[in-house]
Amino acid sequence: MDFVEQLKSSIDIVKVVGDYVRLRREGAAGRYKGLCPFHQEKTPSFNVNQARQFFKCFGCGVAGDALKFIMDIEGMTFPEALKYLAERNGIPMPKRHEYNDAESRMRGALHDIHDIATQLYRTALAGPQGADARAYLQKRGLTKELVETFELGYSDPAGQALVRRLSSESFTAEQWEASGLVRKRNEGTGYYDTFRGRLMFPIHNESGKVIAFGGRALGADDQPKYLNSPETPIYKKTATLYNLHRARNPMRKANRAVLVEGYMDVIGVYAAGIGEVVASCGTALTNAQVRAMHRHADTVVVNFDPDEAGANAAERALQILLDESLHVKVLALDGGLDPDDYVKQNGVEAYRAKLDAAPGYFHWLADRVRSKFDMKTSEGRVDAFKLLLPAVQRIPDKLERAAVASDLAGYLGVDPGLVLDQFKRAAIERRGDANDRRGPQIQQPPAQKPRPEIPPLERILLNVLVSNVAVRAEILPRLVPELTENFASHAIFDALRLLTDGGQDVSFAVLDARLGDTAKTLLHEIVAADEIGDDEACLAQAEACLRRLNEDFRRKRNTELKARVKNAERSGNFEEALRLMAELHSLEQEASGSGAPRA
Ligand code: UTP
Ligand code: MN
Repeated sequence: MDFVEQLKSSIDIVKVVGDYVRLRREGAAGRYKGLCPFHQEKTPSFNVNQARQFFKCFGCGVAGDALKFIMDIEGMTFPEALKYLAERNGIPMPKRHEYNDAESRMRGALHDIHDIATQLYRTALAGPQGADARAYLQKRGLTKELVETFELGYSDPAGQALVRRLSSESFTAEQWEASGLVRKRNEGTGYYDTFRGRLMFPIHNESGKVIAFGGRALGADDQPKYLNSPETPIYKKTATLYNLHRARNPMRKANRAVLVEGYMDVIGVYAAGIGEVVASCGTALTNAQVRAMHRHADTVVVNFDPDEAGANAAERALQILLDESLHVKVLALDGGLDPDDYVKQNGVEAYRAKLDAAPGYFHWLADRVRSKFDMKTSEGRVDAFKLLLPAVQRIPDKLERAAVASDLAGYLGVDPGLVLDQFKRAAIERRGDANDRRGPQIQQPPAQKPRPEIPPLERILLNVLVSNVAVRAEILPRLVPELTENFASHAIFDALRLLTDGGQDVSFAVLDARLGDTAKTLLHEIVAADEIGDDEACLAQAEACLRRLNEDFRRKRNTELKARVKNAERSGNFEEALRLMAELHSLEQEASGSGAPRA
């Protein structure tokens, strides 16, 4: 068996997808459903079929096997996805050139360089060079255990350690430069380390590979405070969340994510026993990052620094979280403390209690505007409410929008009648504005594609033929082209025939690969639609379908022929009429010969 097939037959797509998407069992055995990780939606249309080892989203149309899923979700090339799944499942991968294109080779090298750098920095932190950094960590209360868990390190102040270490390996100059971890000198020749004399925080992708670093300066005056890796072929800032690979299981257990601003906050909160904590590595929160959280949890508690910058960042983050339909709470800690410091000063229990009691985001928003208006006058209250209204209007769900608005009005002491009034006006404005200005922040789910129509008999027959080799061998030769060419799914039957005639092993994936876009969509529709019986029932099912389809076909031809006979007679073309009648006769003979039609 080809390695790709061998790999696919030894993994389970439900487990593969299940690491990234919360799947729920759906009716019959082997079928699962969840929120699509590839587009924004609130009701699940992402299906995983265990029997077919296949996924399909009826919202945005993405579909494929386990390999395709890994490629899409991890942004991997085919060979990388192959290698990744092989490694995860302990399947030795043949070292064949065909599994190694230029892009995968480059990215593979970058992963290796990052692994080497991680180890180098860790060793340096533990060694004599790392004394100051260790003292700093101790001062900040980081235990040895935490340092180990987060794989913290220290980079050589002289800026040569990594260059030297990489020189002993066989990476190319192109790979060195692409890593972002070393730089070419402007003058003279040679390279120097990008990170020098910094405390190193490895940044991992969701599957746990180091793809970048954040480096904190040790001296209070060193600028910048944090230096971060540039984007590289393996590091996309806007799609990466710090600590997600460790947080995703705790996130599922708690159905909650805690979103903080910094690396140190993540570590502090984690140390408090709250595993479901992530940060967006020094960039404004993006939709991609929010979606990554949403794959694992429905509620996000935003716990940013309490200063003005933090509050503004929280407000922006909030909007994106709401756009992606997450439940949002905001925790503003008292005493002007960030999460890390709060845990240190008030202890783990106090922080946990604060977190569990975090109020809904609109209370936080309301508190923010309260301070800006005179809340003793009704004008002040109404103005405060109006300031909040745009945020409320951007809540995608209509019912939730109304609920939040009335809750907010109550909280601020505003007349509910006014709320209603504002809403009506906004709705009218929206309609008048047509589509282009309707809240650019709201991401509309892609339009539902029209579903192809396929008659049930065809669907069941195909389903059985695709999944059962024995039935296929028995039934396929009996399916004459004159019959199938009238089917909505004729292209699939043709492909099936071609593959079988060519002596190919017809798996679902092989068949799928053969089809054009329209036929592909049909095939997905078909296999997602039906459960079929066990092996024994399959043959009976197929025969019943075939019988009925043949009958329908004959009946149709019969009617057609009769009409043509009549026409020929009417136009005096008796020769033609006779020929058609002979055809009609043999059709009727045929019908009675292969079993009498049942009603
Ligand atoms: P903070 O300044 O709050 O850092 O910035 P921190 O993680 O809490 O660290 P300590 O406690 O001050 O040591 C929050 C995050 O913003 C990004 C980093 O990701 C940091 O963790 N940042 C900050 C940068 O990327 N560059 C900077 O110069 C500063
Ligand atoms: Mn901080």
